[in-house]
Parts: sequence; C-alpha cells; structure tokens
Amino acid sequence: MMVSLVGLIVLIFASGYAGAEETDPGYAKRGEKACLKCHSDDESPVAKFLKTPHAQRADGRTPFAAHDCESCHGASPEHMKKVEESEIRPLPAVVFGANSATPVDQQNEVCLGCHEGGVRMNWTGSQHQAADTSCASCHDVHAARDSILVKKTQPEVCYTCHVEQRADSHRRSTHPIEEGKVTCSDCHNSHGSAGPKLLKEISVNDTCYGCHAEKRGPFLWEHAPVRDDCSSCHTPHGSNLTRLLKARTPYLCQECHQENYHPGTLYSGTGLAGASPNARVLGKDCMNCHPKVHGSNHPSGTRLTR
Ligand code: HEC
Ligand code: HEC
Ligand code: HEC
Ligand code: HEC
Ligand code: HEC
Ligand code: HEC
Ligand code: HEC
Ligand code: HEC
Ligand code: HEC
Ligand code: HEC
Repeated sequence: MMVSLVGLIVLIFASGYAGAEETDPGYAKRGEKACLKCHSDDESPVAKFLKTPHAQRADGRTPFAAHDCESCHGASPEHMKKVEESEIRPLPAVVFGANSATPVDQQNEVCLGCHEGGVRMNWTGSQHQAADTSCASCHDVHAARDSILVKKTQPEVCYTCHVEQRADSHRRSTHPIEEGKVTCSDCHNSHGSAGPKLLKEISVNDTCYGCHAEKRGPFLWEHAPVRDDCSSCHTPHGSNLTRLLKARTPYLCQECHQENYHPGTLYSGTGLAGASPNARVLGKDCMNCHPKVHGSNHPSGTRLTR
C-alpha cells in the first residue's frame, strides 16, 4: 500500500515535470526578482506594483501566484539577456499601451484570461472594444491605487479621450461629479452594456431611476415624455441652464406643444382664440401653471397643474 502510493506520487511528479519541460517557454527562474534587477528604481511604477492586488502571491488567482511579472508580460528570456552597447535590447513578449507593438487584442487577451465575465460580460462588441481601446488605456495596473477605480479621480482618465464631457463638467448645472459624489461609472459600464451608450441599465430611464426613484412613479397622471426618456428634456453631463435642462422653458415645452388655446408663439397672441387674447397666458412660463412636469398624484392633476 505504502509503496504504491509513493509510486503514484512519483509518477504524477514525473509526468507533470515532463509536461512542463515540453511547454516551458523560458519563464525567469527567479520570478519577479529577475526583472527587478534592472527595473527596481523606487520611484518607478514598476516597484509600486508589488503593493497591488495582482502581486499578492498568497492569493492563488493572481499573476504572482503563477509566473509573476511574466504572467502578464509573457515569458521574456530574450529581453533579459546581456546585450552589447551597440545592440538593441529585444522587448518583452507583451508590452502594454497604445503605442506598443503588441496588438491591442493580444494585450487585452492577457487581462481577459483572468477577468472575463461578470461586469465584462458585454465587452466583445462594446463601443470601447470596437474602437480598439486597451484595458491598459483606462487601467494603470502598476499604480498602488488605480485612479480609474477611485470615484473622484476617475473622470480625469475618461476626459483624456472624451473632451466634450470635460467641457460639459464646467457648465453651470451638472451632476456633483467634481465633488466626487457621482462619477461616470455610476451611469456607464465602460466594459460594455446591453443598453445604449454603454449605460449600466437597459435604458436611460432605468439608469436615472437608480438614484431618482421618486421620478419612477407610478403617477395618477403621467407625462408621456417622462415615462419615455428623461433625456427629452435633460442632458446628463452639464447644461448652462438650471436643472440640467436642454432648453429654457417655455421653449422646451413648445418643442412638443403648440396648443390651440395657449400661445403658439411666446409673448404673442398668435394661435390663441378670439380677437383679444387672454393676457393671463401671455409671457408666462408654462411651469407657473404646470409645475408637476414629472407627473401628478393629485385627483385633479390631469393637466399637471397640481
Ligand atoms: C538586464 C536588464 C533587464 C532585465 C533583467 C529586464 N529588463 Fe525590462 N527593460 C530593460 C531595459 C534597459 C528597458 C528599456 C528598453 C527600451 O526602452 O528600449 C526595458 C524595458 C521594459 C519594458 C518596457 C518596454 C517598452 O517599450 O515600453 C517592459 C514592459 C519590461 N522591460 C518588462 C520586463 C520584465 C517583465 C522583466 C522580467 C521578466 C524585465 N523587463 C527584465 C532591462 C531589463
Ligand atoms: C497584471 C498584469 C501585469 C503584471 C503582473 C506586471 N505588469 Fe508591467 N505593465 C502592465 C501594464 C498593463 C503596463 C502598461 C502600463 C501603462 O500603460 O500605464 C505595464 C508596464 C510595464 C513597464 C513599462 C513602464 C513604463 O512606465 O513604461 C515595465 C518596465 C513593466 N511593466 C515591468 C513589469 C515588472 C518588472 C513586473 C513585475 C514586478 C510587471 N511589469 C508586472 C501589466 C503588468
Ligand atoms: C493571472 C490572473 C490575472 C491577470 C492576467 C490579470 N489579473 Fe487583474 N486581478 C486578478 C486578481 C486575482 C485580482 C484580485 C481580485 C479580487 O481581489 O477580487 C485582480 C484585480 C484587478 C483589478 C482590481 C484592482 C483593485 O485595486 O481592486 C483590476 C482593475 C484588474 N485586476 C485589471 C487587470 C488588467 C487591466 C489586467 C491586464 C493588464 C489584469 N488585471 C490581468 C487576476 C489577474
Ligand atoms: C474605458 C475605460 C475602461 C476600459 C477600456 C476597461 N475598464 Fe475595467 N474598469 C473601468 C472602470 C471605470 C472600473 C470601475 C467601475 C466599474 O466596475 O465599472 C473598472 C473596473 C474593472 C475591474 C474591477 C472591478 C470588477 O468588478 O471586476 C476589473 C477587474 C477590470 N475593470 C478589468 C478590465 C479589463 C480586463 C479590461 C479590458 C478587457 C478593462 N477593464 C477595460 C474602466 C475601464
Ligand atoms: C483611450 C481613450 C478612451 C478612454 C480613456 C475612455 N474612452 Fe470612452 N470611448 C473611446 C472611443 C474611441 C469610443 C468610441 C468612439 C466614440 O463613440 O466616441 C468611446 C465610446 C464611449 C461611449 C459610447 C459612446 C457612444 O456613442 O455609444 C461611452 C459612454 C464612453 N466611451 C464612456 C467612457 C467612460 C465613462 C470612460 C472612463 C471610465 C471612458 N469612456 C474612457 C475612447 C476612450
Ligand atoms: C447621471 C448619469 C451619467 C453620468 C454621471 C455620466 N453619464 Fe455619460 N451619458 C449618460 C446618458 C444618459 C447618456 C446618453 C444620452 C446622451 O447622449 O445625452 C450618456 C452619453 C455619454 C457619451 C456618449 C455621448 C454622445 O454624444 O453620444 C459619452 C462619451 C459619455 N456619456 C461619457 C461620460 C463620461 C466621461 C462621464 C464622467 C465624466 C459620464 N459620461 C457621466 C449618463 C451619464
Ligand atoms: C448615482 C446617482 C445618480 C444617478 C444614476 C442619476 N443622478 Fe441625477 N442627481 C444625483 C445627485 C446626487 C444630484 C444632486 C442632488 C442635489 O444636489 O441635491 C442629482 C441631480 C440631478 C438633477 C438636478 C440638477 C440641478 O442642477 O439641480 C437632474 C435634473 C438630474 N439629476 C437628472 C438625472 C437624470 C436625467 C439621470 C439619468 C440620466 C440622473 N439624474 C441619474 C444623482 C444621480
Ligand atoms: C418634459 C420635460 C422633462 C422630462 C421628460 C423630465 N424632466 Fe426632470 N425636470 C424638468 C423640468 C422643467 C425641471 C425643473 C423643475 C423646476 O425647476 O422646478 C426638472 C427638474 C428635475 C430634477 C430636479 C428637481 C426635482 O424635481 O427633483 C430632477 C432630479 C429631474 N428633473 C429628474 C428627471 C428624471 C429622472 C427624468 C426621467 C424619469 C426627468 N427628470 C424627465 C423637465 C423634465
Ligand atoms: C418630448 C415632447 C414633450 C415635451 C418636451 C413636453 N411635453 Fe408635455 N406632453 C407630451 C405628450 C406626448 C403629452 C401627452 C399628450 C396626450 O396624451 O395627448 C403631453 C402632455 C402634457 C400635458 C397635458 C396632460 C394631459 O393629460 O393632457 C401638459 C399640461 C404638458 N404636457 C405640459 C408640458 C410642459 C409644461 C412641458 C415643459 C416643461 C412639456 N409638457 C414638455 C410631450 C411633451
Ligand atoms: C396661466 C396658466 C397657464 C400657463 C402659463 C400655461 N398653461 Fe397650459 N393649461 C392651463 C390650464 C388651466 C389648462 C387646463 C385647461 C383645461 O383643463 O381644459 C392647461 C392645459 C394645457 C394642456 C392640455 C391641453 C389639452 O389638449 O388638454 C397642455 C398640453 C398645456 N396646457 C401646455 C402648456 C404649455 C406648453 C405652456 C407653456 C407654453 C402652458 N401650458 C402654459 C394653464 C396654463
């Protein structure tokens, strides 16, 4: 019994060893220490890596539980060889970044090897994937704290490519993004989504209801465009009008409403019945009389007046 058990262990060890030898692409024997021999400047982003979740060797799922640095950068024996001063050092097997010779798909493959699924379920076919955006263009995995994962510092990373949203963030009315209370990923899933515009939820409204639940209703008297799409009247990123509105009232309302017994043209009686129009509806904001623009629960709120 004893002998056969030992024999079995030897057999497993031997076959495992033989297999490893067949496929060993030449990972550094001393793991990350071999790399840090040259990449060890304390100030460099490389050394900071040792403090990140990826460098936790005790966690069997991490790169450091396998081939250390080379789990991501690939086996790179040629890169580590001594080179003459006149020679150019060959690059590691995988170099990350927009200007790298490693194709973006191949860079992302490394990350997706461990991070497929979950919130990245819709990565393939997403706008960022289709535009050849690399994981590394948003994630700084060498930093002690990846700034895209921090609410307050995240927008700055997005703004490097999305300049329009940066401009919007300086407008008079915005979500409290600068203050760090709301951030891009509260509404967007950068990794892909089943909804439009990389929104976290299936529609604009479902995304908004996440925080503005009172606008979901149900209301006794609904206002059709509110049910339909908040962005008929609001812009999410910033507006020079109050309350993130896309246009000033009453113009906003008149984009859809040209009622017979309401002024068709503002500040004039055009479209009103009778020779002398009722002065009470002239020059007044629709909101003065129809304040319940999102819906009303008042028994007689059918015209959103109360
Ligand atoms: C013998 C010294 C030495 C060792 C050992 C070494 N490197 Fe390098 N590495 C360099 C030098 C020098 C450069 C800069 C090359 C250049 O800019 O052309 C470099 C550049 C790099 C780059 C950046 C390439 C780029 O174009 O931005 C990466 C990534 C890298 N090394 C990873 C590693 C990894 C991973 C290991 C361990 C498996 C390693 N290096 C081991 C010397 C070394
Ligand atoms: C989780 C995957 C991963 C691991 C593990 C990893 N790196 Fe990197 N490394 C990256 C990515 C991604 C970049 C690109 C960083 C960027 O663009 O900001 C990078 C960049 C680099 C660079 C270029 C730095 C620069 O400023 O241009 C060097 C050198 C490097 N890594 C060396 C190492 C060494 C040495 C280790 C082990 C201590 C290591 N890497 C471990 C993913 C990894
Ligand atoms: C060998 C597997 C492996 C590879 C390859 C890998 N990761 Fe990870 N990654 C992990 C594990 C494990 C964690 C820790 C997860 C946890 O704690 O739940 C992690 C955590 C992260 C986190 C969260 C970090 C934090 O501070 O919370 C990010 C972001 C991340 N990885 C991005 C990347 C990117 C980008 C790449 C490719 C450059 C990559 N990973 C490659 C295994 C991997
Ligand atoms: C356009 C920017 C962007 C790109 C590209 C991107 N990410 Fe992320 N990633 C984020 C943001 C923002 C968060 C934090 C909030 C969230 O989870 O949506 C995050 C969070 C993560 C996390 C930690 C949270 C978790 O639950 O898993 C991992 C791991 C991760 N990303 C991996 C990847 C991988 C792998 C890729 C490439 C296939 C990638 N990311 C591409 C922006 C990006
Ligand atoms: C490296 C550049 C880059 C970074 C960083 C980046 N994006 Fe993008 N993003 C793109 C590109 C390129 C597209 C596709 C082309 C387009 O629609 O502008 C895109 C598309 C999008 C879209 C979809 C637009 C549409 O019309 O469907 C959203 C939403 C978005 N990004 C949000 C973000 C958020 C949020 C962040 C930060 C967490 C971010 N992006 C970071 C480059 C980037
Ligand atoms: C309150 C929710 C919310 C927040 C926070 C938010 N967005 Fe959006 N974003 C949306 C909605 C809704 C849309 C689609 C409607 C539209 O085009 O106006 C959108 C559209 C986009 C688009 C596509 C624009 C276009 O013209 O098609 C980009 C790019 C984008 N957002 C980037 C960002 C970035 C970067 C941040 C962080 C600074 C951010 N968003 C924060 C809700 C949000
Ligand atoms: C992550 C939570 C969150 C989500 C999701 C969200 N909001 Fe907000 N919204 C806020 C917060 C916080 C405020 C500021 C409230 C305050 O200052 O009292 C705000 C304020 C507003 C305001 C008033 C702005 C002002 O100038 O007073 C409007 C309008 C608004 N949101 C519309 C939307 C729309 C439309 C959506 C969907 C595209 C949305 N919100 C999604 C959190 C959210
Ligand atoms: C028909 C145009 C219209 C639509 C559609 C609309 N809103 Fe509004 N919203 C307004 C107007 C006008 C105001 C300004 C009210 C005021 O100043 O008293 C406002 C104000 C707000 C405010 C800030 C004041 C408050 O009442 O809390 C929030 C938050 C808000 N809207 C969220 C939403 C959400 C979420 C949706 C989609 C479910 C939505 N709105 C759809 C016109 C609209
Ligand atoms: C995107 C188009 C759109 C915008 C913008 C819009 N509405 Fe409406 N509104 C509608 C539709 C559609 C109905 C439903 C008409 C129906 O049922 O016959 C409606 C109905 C109404 C009603 C009557 C409710 C009823 O039961 O008959 C009032 C009052 C009203 N809207 C006021 C406003 C005010 C005030 C604004 C500006 C803050 C506004 N609307 C902006 C499309 C819009
Ligand atoms: C001085 C107050 C007042 C102002 C200002 C006003 N309304 Fe009205 N509106 C009313 C009243 C009262 C009713 C209800 C009439 C009824 O029940 O027959 C009404 C009815 C409506 C209806 C329902 C029409 C229908 O077919 O049943 C719409 C739509 C409407 N208003 C839109 C607007 C818009 C858009 C503006 C701004 C351009 C506006 N109102 C400005 C008082 C006002």
